[in-house]
Amino acid sequence: MPAKIAIIGGAGSVGATAAYAILLRRCASELLLVDLDTEKCAAQVLDLSDAAFLSDTKVRMGTPKEAGQCDIVIITAGAKQRPGETRVDLIGRNRAILSSVIESMKPFKQSAILLLIANPVDVLTYFAQKLSGLPQSQVLGSGTYLDSARLRSELSSRLEVAETAVHAYVLGEHGDSQFVAWSSAHVANTPLLSLSAMKGVDKKKLAEDVKNKAYKIIEAKGATYFGIGGVAASICECIIFDLRHVRPLSHYIPELNVCLSFPVVLGHSGVRQTLKPPLTEEEEELLKKSAKEMRNVIEKYEL
Ligand code: LAC
Repeated sequence: MPAKIAIIGGAGSVGATAAYAILLRRCASELLLVDLDTEKCAAQVLDLSDAAFLSDTKVRMGTPKEAGQCDIVIITAGAKQRPGETRVDLIGRNRAILSSVIESMKPFKQSAILLLIANPVDVLTYFAQKLSGLPQSQVLGSGTYLDSARLRSELSSRLEVAETAVHAYVLGEHGDSQFVAWSSAHVANTPLLSLSAMKGVDKKKLAEDVKNKAYKIIEAKGATYFGIGGVAASICECIIFDLRHVRPLSHYIPELNVCLSFPVVLGHSGVRQTLKPPLTEEEEELLKKSAKEMRNVIEKYEL
């Protein structure tokens, strides 16, 4: 199936890593890299073309207008966190970049899916939907997919069971107010918390470690990009091949009037369904707190 994917911010490390992962997963026939830094972008295209023997994907530089006509537009453009900065600290800079990027791509292909990767991803997903005018189901953010993968990987090694059997989600903000929905987590169809191997696990510390993993990486090497690049490719694969996998992604939640992550059924048309798990009272409170924080940032930067 011919599929065109554009990466806005394709010269940066997240954009280029996402491009490499998409190429390896063979989910695009054409991959367009778009960046204001055309010299570096051209070099990324050349470098990626050296990996073209691994795939049938044609990689080239593109314009914002061409990107607007692609099946999926991935937005990675924006300032990145400096050591010690939170994702929300980036909003002033990245909100302005988002507006100009979206304007430059209009008009969008009607069925285009906008995938937000830049941070703070939940707030930017909310603004991207307003700015683009695309249906809410077609505008999504990588959200807590990566945090949930980090959580599953930890649980998988502690419980000595494959990650694919661990159904545990980080919900809410992709950032400091995220929380783990422990009460509904399962290994296959056994409740996670009923497993004896969980008795010795400090859940609070585990959740904190998952939340702080990006800070730890940024402190030591300045940025994270392999995990998020892989997440971007996995989301694209699910959309292009209409796989209907369930992934925790940031999307608009009407009753909260913000974008944040709940598990969704993801297919060719974007978000097909939100699967809100049952939450304990305490988890509901954490969800409300996370939504309130997102809403406060939105109101400060509303159009
Ligand atoms: C991270 C970035 C993508 O969590 O926010 O690695």
